[in-house]
Amino acid sequence: MRILFVGDIYARPGRNIVHERLPELQKQYAVDLTIANGENAAGGFGITPQIAEELFELGIDVITTGNHVWDKREIIEYMNSANGNEASLARRVLRPANYPEGTPGFGWYQGRTRSGFDYAVVNLQGRVFMTNNDDPFRVADDLLKQITANAILVDVHAEATSEKIALGYYLEGRVSAVLGTHTHIPTADEHVLPKGTAYQTDVGMTGPYDGVIGVQKEMILQRFLTNMPGRFEPASNDVRLCATLIDCDPQTGRASGIERIMLKQE
Ligand SMILES: [Fe+2]
Repeated sequence: MRILFVGDIYARPGRNIVHERLPELQKQYAVDLTIANGENAAGGFGITPQIAEELFELGIDVITTGNHVWDKREIIEYMNSANGNEASLARRVLRPANYPEGTPGFGWYQGRTRSGFDYAVVNLQGRVFMTNNDDPFRVADDLLKQITANAILVDVHAEATSEKIALGYYLEGRVSAVLGTHTHIPTADEHVLPKGTAYQTDVGMTGPYDGVIGVQKEMILQRFLTNMPGRFEPASNDVRLCATLIDCDPQTGRASGIERIMLKQE
């Protein structure tokens, strides 16, 4: 079974390159399941129901998020609309599972691919240099008791490389892949841990690299130089699609391969 995870889709440039390049990637690698982090898909801040459905239309099966999940408030009602309606598209937009009890939406999704493989996606958020949510380690333990699929991909949306690799080792042998998001910088440490869990600290951003993690560099420089508030607009050049491909056995959930992909806009 082949799983393609597309790193943080950033604003319109990110959505455009997904539109242009995702179909060929899915075909080239015979992808069974496509997952993407979409928390910055709407102008760099949050995701709207309309953009989520656009991404589903482009062939993404499940969308994960992170600390920017609520930036566009209409996503709250959209997520609430999935309550009791497992078949709705809205159920496939996740927020981190370790948010406080009672938070709208769901932190995990279990489904079956068109090719007939059962899978689950779990979304977690780190606590180091981020808001202090529930413990992602213990929340993952609880979720794994409920999930019946063996092919399980975990998106760890976190700042600190240490917290991400620690979660990788914690979940080693219990999930197929632990992939990091949030820093928007791809890391070159993709490998399969000895007990069959594919791991990468950060998949990298799908968006404009001619800026500071997606934002026009002049605006961020101004912020660092003056500490004054200002507008943040998406950068537009050097657009790349960063993704990671996982090979795993849907029966055992064990990963056998991981490959880092970076495509530039043609
Ligand atoms: Fe983030």
